[in-house]
Amino acid sequence: MQKRIDLFPITARVEKDRLKIADHDLTTLAETYGTPLYLYDRATLDHAVSEYKSALASHYPQPASVTYAGKAFLCLAIAQWTQLQSLTVDCTGEGEIAIAVEAGVPRANILVHGVNKSVADLAAAVRHANTIVVDNLYELDRIRSHFSGQAQLPDLWLRLLPGVSVTTHHTHTQTGHHESKFGMTREEFMEAVDICREYNLPLKGIHFHQGSNFRDPEPLIPAIEMALDLAQKIGFTGEWHFCPGGGWGVAYHEDELPSPSIESYVRGIAEAVIEGCETRGLILPHLHLEPGRSLVARAGVAIYQVGAVKKRGEKTWLLTDGGMADNPRFALYGARYACLPVSGLGGERSDYVSIAGPYCESGDIVIENLLMPSVETGALIAIPVAGAYHLSMSSNYNGARRPAVLWLEQGRVQVIQRRETHQDLLDRDMR
Ligand SMILES: Cc1ncc(COP(=O)(O)O)c(C=O)c1O
Repeated sequence: MQKRIDLFPITARVEKDRLKIADHDLTTLAETYGTPLYLYDRATLDHAVSEYKSALASHYPQPASVTYAGKAFLCLAIAQWTQLQSLTVDCTGEGEIAIAVEAGVPRANILVHGVNKSVADLAAAVRHANTIVVDNLYELDRIRSHFSGQAQLPDLWLRLLPGVSVTTHHTHTQTGHHESKFGMTREEFMEAVDICREYNLPLKGIHFHQGSNFRDPEPLIPAIEMALDLAQKIGFTGEWHFCPGGGWGVAYHEDELPSPSIESYVRGIAEAVIEGCETRGLILPHLHLEPGRSLVARAGVAIYQVGAVKKRGEKTWLLTDGGMADNPRFALYGARYACLPVSGLGGERSDYVSIAGPYCESGDIVIENLLMPSVETGALIAIPVAGAYHLSMSSNYNGARRPAVLWLEQGRVQVIQRRETHQDLLDRDMR
């Protein structure tokens, strides 16, 4: 249980049995802003970026960039923070592009992804982005037929389907295995290269993304080799771009500590790219890494309040005021979490509990069978590693209002997203 605190943001401390982040007492925050409540710790976000940047500076001699995968969580404040860190923002589709543009992210720092981009997505990308990562031949055809005459066509990178799996959830968080819906096979990829040449489209790079939340960089190596083979076939002569995606994992439970090292991930990629380019006589590309989770997950904490406590056979359920509507990850792929009470951490008794939300689904579970200090109804609990793929996948199921989100720095609390209101739930309905 002692180690569990290491899952929380780097500024987390226990003082007089109470949990604090960036010196803010979580009980006070929950009382002031209500629950469910999400917190983002600025110091933890900055720290993750600096780990990426310093690893790239140590291991890769050519230009290299970090792109934040906005799908992990994007709102104005986060998009603005990315610019304080000079990150590129990966936007999936026109909705995320709109958020980035509103936040003031410049064209040079917007890259657009999506597995089946519509003409509207592509139009937004052409207008606002520096780069479009082309997922498939249909999309390339849409770009050619709708936008090829444009003066300012973004750079095009082609997304390769490497056909190699990383070790993670077999269907839900893998994207690079041979049956995946993402990217192009080698044959499709070469056809796309020919189309770019024929229509003089600005083909500038290669991309792949093999999956999410993996902690062994080894399966990336054959995919990098495959991408470099294709780069050789294309015969890039000037600056070219290569992005082996994101997906580096984080620890969600104390059993998974220490968190996978960002330095070893970056080193593994950089060495493979440098060696692979040397062998093939290729110019070293501008290397891009595209993390989402490993930048923002640990910075985020969810606070819930316990309501009913139900004993059912061997099981004790703590029923909370948040669950699958703000965090569907257990329901989607059985994600594991840990949790601590926000106060009374030194309690003598510990119990195995399961934590579930208030929504009408048996899959509305947050945690199954976790040993934690015993808590009563009314207690506040904090779920660490809540910064990625919670709110970005949240819903209004059962009329749930999305939670408020706070930005925490030492001596400063800012509401970056207010809690949704009942009016928000009605706003799209026509009368
Ligand atoms: C194309 C692409 N890049 C980057 C990411 C980021 O992955 P992660 O948040 O696991 O780092 C994803 C996640 O699905 C993705 O699809």
